[in-house]
Amino acid sequence: MENGIFIGGGGEGYGEKQFLTLKYANRHGLIAGATGTGKTVTLQILAEGFSNAGVPVFLSDVKGDLSGLAASGTESFKLHDAFTSRAGTIGFEDYRYHACPVTFWDLFGTQGHPVRTTVAEMGPLLVSRLLELSEAQEGILNIAFRLADEEGLPLLDLKDLQALLVWVGENRSDLALRYGNISVQSIGAIQRRLMVLENQGATQFFGEPALELSDIMRTDAEGRGQINILAADKLMASPRLYATFLLWLLSELFEELPEVGDPDKPKLVFFFDEAHLLFEDAPKALVDKVEQVARLIRSKGVGVYFITQNPADVPEDILGQLGNRVQHALRAFTARDRKNLRMAAETYRDNPRFSTEDAIKEVGVGEAVTSMLMKKGVPGIVERTLIRPPSTQLGPLDKTLRASLIQASDLASKYGTTLDRKSAYEILRARAEAAAAEAEAEEAREEDMSVAEREFSTARRYSGGRVGRSSSRRMRSRKDIDIGYEMKRMVVKELTGTTGRRIVRGLLGGLFKGR
Ligand SMILES: Nc1ncnc2c1ncn2[C@@H]1O[C@H](COP(=O)(O)OP(=O)(O)OP(=O)(O)O)[C@@H](O)[C@H]1O
Ligand SMILES: [Mg+2]
Repeated sequence: MENGIFIGGGGEGYGEKQFLTLKYANRHGLIAGATGTGKTVTLQILAEGFSNAGVPVFLSDVKGDLSGLAASGTESFKLHDAFTSRAGTIGFEDYRYHACPVTFWDLFGTQGHPVRTTVAEMGPLLVSRLLELSEAQEGILNIAFRLADEEGLPLLDLKDLQALLVWVGENRSDLALRYGNISVQSIGAIQRRLMVLENQGATQFFGEPALELSDIMRTDAEGRGQINILAADKLMASPRLYATFLLWLLSELFEELPEVGDPDKPKLVFFFDEAHLLFEDAPKALVDKVEQVARLIRSKGVGVYFITQNPADVPEDILGQLGNRVQHALRAFTARDRKNLRMAAETYRDNPRFSTEDAIKEVGVGEAVTSMLMKKGVPGIVERTLIRPPSTQLGPLDKTLRASLIQASDLASKYGTTLDRKSAYEILRARAEAAAAEAEAEEAREEDMSVAEREFSTARRYSGGRVGRSSSRRMRSRKDIDIGYEMKRMVVKELTGTTGRRIVRGLLGGLFKGR
């Protein structure tokens, strides 16, 4: 079938070819099943199929075993006979080995091109989620983001956000008039969360050059879709970062891509492995957002496929949107397992030949209960499908091969080095330094003034005329100088005459340096 991706054989004796219709591939999908039942290979053959059909793919590689997509399978591989015999059973006449065009990405920048985004682009909602902030803390983060906008402080990396929070803390009494109480405790809590994130290695991830979406939507010279593999093995140690990143990418796609209605084939297909992490103790607002993004991203031509062990891990509203399904075997050990299994079975259109529930229990490794969207987007009747064997290498790609592919890629120079352009951190630091220098200069001027002049200027200073958008560092140094000034004045009162004044400058002048 020209307009579909061959996934395997169904019917009696597995002889009836089963396809995923490209026209409906943007109506999302699900790959589910217990451990070792064939989910990863199913993802692999779907990625191959999309790539061959000219559709770019983005997928997360949780165990590192999908990197084999970049290499061809071989006749010397131990499962070669098993693969060819399976191909024979399902009538896959033109089964052959080949490699796919692959681009490797890595949030930590070691196993692929570094993927980066800016703090501002991620936005307060996702950053709050990433930091697991309480509602009150999230409120403060929202204020901080807004202030950054108003003050023209670009938020690119983590140190920008840290500097901004320090600034908010220092100016909190001024800000309280507009935004209500800003507690130092909450700011401290956010800062500590940022440190945890930093320790997880996320420093790399926030910054520039930020990922350009067009770079994950490429086709090669032969018109095959590029398969973008995100290294997620190390990333899985920080599940929040993993889930938030993928969610960010989805919402970026949603916001940036133009409407295309129902294209002949998707513009991009997105596979989300270990999808349960997205929903685990997620607040309702976030689940609603995922549901909304999934519903709307379809018309941008993006298909999203969730991979998870148990379909019950996916909220019902989202599950209902996953039209193309490959359900590998589920276990039925406990009462709860059996309930989940029954629920999973209920969502399919029954096939008179077998019970869906029994089939989900019985299917072997690399076999699945499948249901694909048919004409007019109606779900097809359930099939027991023997999934086709992969054409690319099963298992991980050799490390040196991987490294050389990354190096040879034309994206290597674009994403290779971090840029550190002037942003919130640098601007606030420069402001603070300028303020400190000004305070020092003023102090020096004051030294030269007569006591009378000083008293006059002190009075003027308290008129409040010069308070405004000055940075807090300036405000603080002023206050310190004022206290110092009072001390100096007391001493001066006791020492009269020019000699006395010079002594004072010598005694106290140096004391305030370096503030
Ligand atoms: N379509 C298939 N054709 C041939 N062999 C298959 C197929 N699917 C699975 N297998 C065999 O089953 C093994 C396990 O499959 P796979 O790694 O896809 O399971 P999984 O569900 O991803 O497991 P886990 O939950 O542990 O990641 C494969 O290594 C392969 O040997
Ligand atoms: Mg797997």
